[in-house]
Amino acid sequence: MTDNELLGAADAIASRAYAPYSRFHVGCVVLTRDGRLIEGVNVENAAYPLGVCAERVTFSRAIVEGYRPGDFVTAAITASPCGGCRQWLAEMQVDRVVFRNGGRIVTMTVAELLPEQFEAHELP
Ligand code: THU
Repeated sequence: MTDNELLGAADAIASRAYAPYSRFHVGCVVLTRDGRLIEGVNVENAAYPLGVCAERVTFSRAIVEGYRPGDFVTAAITASPCGGCRQWLAEMQVDRVVFRNGGRIVTMTVAELLPEQFEAHELP
């Protein structure tokens, strides 16, 4: 699938978001190396900080399906990923990330999204 097709798929599912508080609907799809498409949307909560971003929902679903870091080719997101989700994208070792930012379509690697990233092997 092309980046445009993946973004189109993310656009198509964004309306399934549960976002009654922000009314900001986000869709995310991830293409796996074995050719599957896994979808997610943001899920908010009346206790605001408990809401979950579309990217984290998507990767949590992928993990449940048996996928592991390194199994992902492209993540397509209808919005620019937040700082925390950049850390998730890095953890999942996605090859490339394509997202909408205002009117633009941006494609980046994880290293570009999150330079000088924290890695657990740096722990004492
Ligand atoms: N949101 C995402 O789903 N992904 C991001 O990377 C940015 C923000 C959601 C969280 C919240 O439900 C809404 O967008 C407004 O911040």
